[in-house]
Amino acid sequence: MTAAPIRALVAGNWKMNGTTAALREPRLLAAMLKGVKLKCDVLVCPPATILRRAKAVMKGSKIRVGGQDCHAAASGAHTGDISADMLKDAGASMVIVGHSERRTNHKETDAEVLAKAKAVHRAGLTAIICIGETLEERKAGKTLEVLTAQIKGSVPAESNAGNTVVAYEPVWAIGTGLTPTTAEVAEAHTHIRAELEKAMGAEGSQTRILYGGSVKPSNAAELMSAANVNGALVGGASLKAADFIGIIKTYM
Ligand code: 13P
Repeated sequence: MTAAPIRALVAGNWKMNGTTAALREPRLLAAMLKGVKLKCDVLVCPPATILRRAKAVMKGSKIRVGGQDCHAAASGAHTGDISADMLKDAGASMVIVGHSERRTNHKETDAEVLAKAKAVHRAGLTAIICIGETLEERKAGKTLEVLTAQIKGSVPAESNAGNTVVAYEPVWAIGTGLTPTTAEVAEAHTHIRAELEKAMGAEGSQTRILYGGSVKPSNAAELMSAANVNGALVGGASLKAADFIGIIKTYM
């Protein structure tokens, strides 16, 4: 029996951008996608402060909203932190964890990312677990080794294709305008697929693997055509509906 094709996901990570005025973009996006038959799922991850309102302005559309990181605990004395349950309560169906900006700026380890991904699963949401090598690691020929270690260290053993998405984001490609070649993307994604199959069995063959790092309307089709790429995790180009839709168009 051949497995069903994997439905792609195009996710926008707004990072620390957007106040109430930015809600015009998801509103616009929902209007642009009205009546369009998409061959992918679409997710917008705005800052938590406008998550609920972003969901409200896209009401009636199929676009989902997600959170950007969460605490590993469900509740407690953690000033300033947000739990997966809180994000769920605000309307999130997915949560990004292990983003390289968290791993670098907040010194998050694989073990912490693993605990956060488990918290997302406990809340009944889907974890988008980010992995990726630095430029130094790539230059040293360590890319695949780094990806293996990050998968082993930060993807929960009980993950399945429904509650887990892996995003390959080479650190050096984030916000730089630089992207790996299609062959390099295919090599990394095919390696990630093999590691997920080792760790998760059949579920690993169905788990979505997104590419992230300087995805734009002009390069999306080529990046998305690489083997084992099941969608995109988009930063800067997800902030404007007109740009984001240019990437979503890859799957129209
Ligand atoms: P850019 O698309 O701005 O390079 O950001 C990628 C990213 O970090 C998405 O999580």
